[in-house]
Amino acid sequence: MKALVLSSLSGIQALSIKEWPEPVAKPGETLVRVTAAGLNFADIMTTKGGYPGMPAPPVVVGREFSGAEESTGRRLMGYAQWGAFAESTCAYSNMLWPVPDEWSNEQAAAFPVNYFTAYLGYWQAGMTNPAPAGRTHRVLIHAVAGGVGTAAVQIGRLLGVDMYGTSSSDEKLARVKELGLQHGINYKRHDYEESVKNLTRGEGVDAVFEMLGGEHTAKSLRCLRDFGKVIQYGTASGMQPKLDVRALYAKSASVQGLWLTYLSQKSEIIVPAWEHLSKWIKGGKLTPQIGQVFEFEQAIEAYKLLEEGKNYGKLILKIA
Ligand SMILES: NC(=O)c1ccc[n+]([C@@H]2O[C@H](COP(=O)([O-])OP(=O)(O)OC[C@H]3O[C@@H](n4cnc5c(N)ncnc54)[C@H](OP(=O)(O)O)[C@@H]3O)[C@@H](O)[C@H]2O)c1
Repeated sequence: MKALVLSSLSGIQALSIKEWPEPVAKPGETLVRVTAAGLNFADIMTTKGGYPGMPAPPVVVGREFSGAEESTGRRLMGYAQWGAFAESTCAYSNMLWPVPDEWSNEQAAAFPVNYFTAYLGYWQAGMTNPAPAGRTHRVLIHAVAGGVGTAAVQIGRLLGVDMYGTSSSDEKLARVKELGLQHGINYKRHDYEESVKNLTRGEGVDAVFEMLGGEHTAKSLRCLRDFGKVIQYGTASGMQPKLDVRALYAKSASVQGLWLTYLSQKSEIIVPAWEHLSKWIKGGKLTPQIGQVFEFEQAIEAYKLLEEGKNYGKLILKIA
């Protein structure tokens, strides 16, 4: 079969499409013929050895896909840690979900990582429950026009959350506003800390979905209101999160990690999350946002676009 193989941990140039042996399903796994796959920021980190748990190269990369179950032809979308950017993949059967009839293969491949991560962000922030009487939950979403960001906006709208979102581009912000983002902040032209302060009359937000790291962790903490939470789920800047712990005391605030790789192993968390998400899907209320679809042979171009932060929503690879 054809597969996208990483031959060393030296970055995107170490990727190439190669002939690779077909995988064989072990107990608890399902063999899927892959039709489309979703590119994640984690895939960029993986090429430089920056993602924990990966086997040593050469390895077939890719963590998210849609396709057909080999034995039944049933349409499935799935989440894996590697092996998804190939004509066939074996995934844990409990990490596969049915594709809604009205979704294309590309939309299905854009669902698992973005929507579970965004949903769990709200869940960890306590926002899947209604806000106390007379209050509205408020969230600041970084990279709001990205894959996780656009999913967070659709879910936040359904939860009735007041959303503040950052992006480098007015054009991207205009598209996310159509999804329900109320307050777009172009961080190239405005300091987001100042903007949040002004827009919330100095009160701040209840949670920040923070995936930049470096000084943005401390800065996001300063955007919180009392008892607020920074949900730290990435370090796209490549910098370790910086944090002044004394700033936590001042507001009884907290910083909490979120890692889908870890949480996805916990059925008591993932099963209810899927139940909630699938109710919205059945109601036609979630639509995965696809920025661009690339032929499999153009995979490196897609990686470069995501690495440069030029994407809107999800970048998809067409596998078959
Ligand atoms: N912990 C988890 O389980 C988990 C799960 C999924 C994703 N993540 C993390 O969430 C983040 C978003 O992932 P994604 O796949 O949805 O990507 P994405 O948001 O679709 O793409 C990255 C976006 O981040 C913004 N950005 C800001 N600074 C950047 C930088 N230094 N380099 C590149 N992009 C930058 C860019 O948007 P603007 O130009 O609009 O700023 C870019 O479009 C990543 O950090 C990823 O590792 C974590």
